[in-house]
Amino acid sequence: MNAMSTRRIALAVMAAACLAVPSARALDPGEVVDAFEAVLGPVTTYRPSHPKGLCAAGHFVGNAEGTRLSVAPVFSGQRISAIIRFGVAGANPNASDVARSTRGLAIRFETARGEQWDMANISAPIFGARTPEMLVAGLLARRPGPNGQPDAEAVRRFVEANPDSQLQGRWLASVAPPASWATTPYWRVNTFLFRGQDGQVRPARWVFQPVAGTQRLTEEQMRSLGPNFLMDEMRRRVAQGPVEFDMVLQFPGQGDDLLNPTVAWPDDRPRATVGRLTVTSVEAGPGGPCDGISFMNLDMEPGVAMSDDPTLQARAAPYAVSLSRRTR
Ligand code: HEM
Repeated sequence: MNAMSTRRIALAVMAAACLAVPSARALDPGEVVDAFEAVLGPVTTYRPSHPKGLCAAGHFVGNAEGTRLSVAPVFSGQRISAIIRFGVAGANPNASDVARSTRGLAIRFETARGEQWDMANISAPIFGARTPEMLVAGLLARRPGPNGQPDAEAVRRFVEANPDSQLQGRWLASVAPPASWATTPYWRVNTFLFRGQDGQVRPARWVFQPVAGTQRLTEEQMRSLGPNFLMDEMRRRVAQGPVEFDMVLQFPGQGDDLLNPTVAWPDDRPRATVGRLTVTSVEAGPGGPCDGISFMNLDMEPGVAMSDDPTLQARAAPYAVSLSRRTR
């Protein structure tokens, strides 16, 4: 880990220590990771979320619309280096690639001047928790008891009290899993504030749209492909040429909730394509530079700032704690 990463982690932990989350008592970042550990066991080696994954590299180039809509260096139009991690959701490093769960696209942008911007995107337009407290309560409700199983009654009570925790699962059940990491959109479910060249600040979410188009598994493929096809499929694909995604901003309309990531904004809201991400190489085996990175979802001031979405504000510090536990 370089000095810059260490400094950013320290800043993130300090920021979270001062963070006022809307609850009776602010969650401690360690407490969030403890909740993951209560369900999964100690965080060692693997990420507690999206532990299965493939590290890749490439670049991002912002277009004229991106330069207009954000003064952040990533949208300057220069070629920006990117370290990319494709993931499979859940807590199991051997999770099945045909599971109806989310796939992840985590990116670290690095400018020539050494500025960094990290983000994590998922292959669903919504998240499974409205607040960090809800995420933690959902994890703790699923904590295994003495028989190794969660208490069904505790899970039932949690779901009854938090019906919106079911929305993402319902969306995932309604579509087949992606046929490739290269053929699914990846949404940024939280709102950010974009400061444009004209000085205006515009709230926006975004989606990385696959240039290859969206392709999902057929029922037959779900039976025949087996649980581990994604990595080799991606390696074959990138060996034949770059894999590309267009970054598309979506702007809210009247009445859209800016701070609730369990609700997507309607499709008819205005959009703007702001640049293209190109994946040029993937790691031949496990590991690679992604292992030492926690894609912490910081902002890139002054051009992209975090909104007050509590699941966004509360991210950096638990990610830092998780990174320090799995790399100690
Ligand atoms: C309360 C909010 C959240 C908490 C506490 C949380 C916590 C975590 C933690 C602890 C990790 C492992 C970090 C590491 O060890 O490097 C992680 C990874 C991840 N999270 Fe979250 N998360 C939250 C919300 C979200 C949301 C809203 C998204 C969707 C955009 C998301 C997407 C991801 C992805 C894709 C990864 C894996 C990144 C990678 O490949 O390294 N998380 N999360």
